[in-house]
Amino acid sequence: MATSEYDTSEWDVFTDIPEDLSGVYDIVHISLFSIVLKDGDVAGILDKVLKLLKPGGYLQWFEADMVSWRIQTTSSNNKTGAISSLMKISQPKDDRFSPIWVPRLPDLFRENGLTAVECDARDPQPEMIMPLHQLTFMVYECLTRQGNSSEWSKAIREAIPEALCETDAGAANVFTRSMVVGRKPLE
Ligand SMILES: C[S@@+](CC[C@H](N)C(=O)[O-])C[C@H]1O[C@@H](n2cnc3c(N)ncnc32)[C@H](O)[C@@H]1O
Repeated sequence: MATSEYDTSEWDVFTDIPEDLSGVYDIVHISLFSIVLKDGDVAGILDKVLKLLKPGGYLQWFEADMVSWRIQTTSSNNKTGAISSLMKISQPKDDRFSPIWVPRLPDLFRENGLTAVECDARDPQPEMIMPLHQLTFMVYECLTRQGNSSEWSKAIREAIPEALCETDAGAANVFTRSMVVGRKPLE
């Protein structure tokens, strides 16, 4: 695709939408944003995102439901303490790691006036469990990159080697993931 065929622009969702982006999109896709939003942010952000769409346009929002978190193992003898501890250490920081709004996304879509709302919530196929689990280590890396010297960051970093051993032995974080689609009404 030639670069002249598309534009990129940046928008901080905690600010108003840029005027020139109002009502210009047929489709808006959002993916893995729960790490950015606190529970109280979601309705306002949804309202802004809908302003980006043309009437009749579609919003598609994909999220991992952190609240559905559990650990799956290849054997009941597997150790899971470090993987579990990593998840728990990272959670109390703020409510971005325990968002209650993800399972409510279809209702939030409807409450914000979207129609034809559909939700596809599913658990990973067995062959995808381990690759998706490995990605959680990148999240810990991002979380601790800033404020590397805080006690919280240190605790996370110290738990990582043991969690990797548990991973190699066949234990993995599992989340339910949801794709929600809705249509902005025609005016
Ligand atoms: C977990 S990543 C997801 C990236 C990508 N959407 C995906 O699914 O792989 C979260 C994204 O949110 C973006 N982000 C963080 N704060 C933001 C803000 N205030 N406004 C807009 N985007 C933001 C980050 O730049 C990052 O790309």
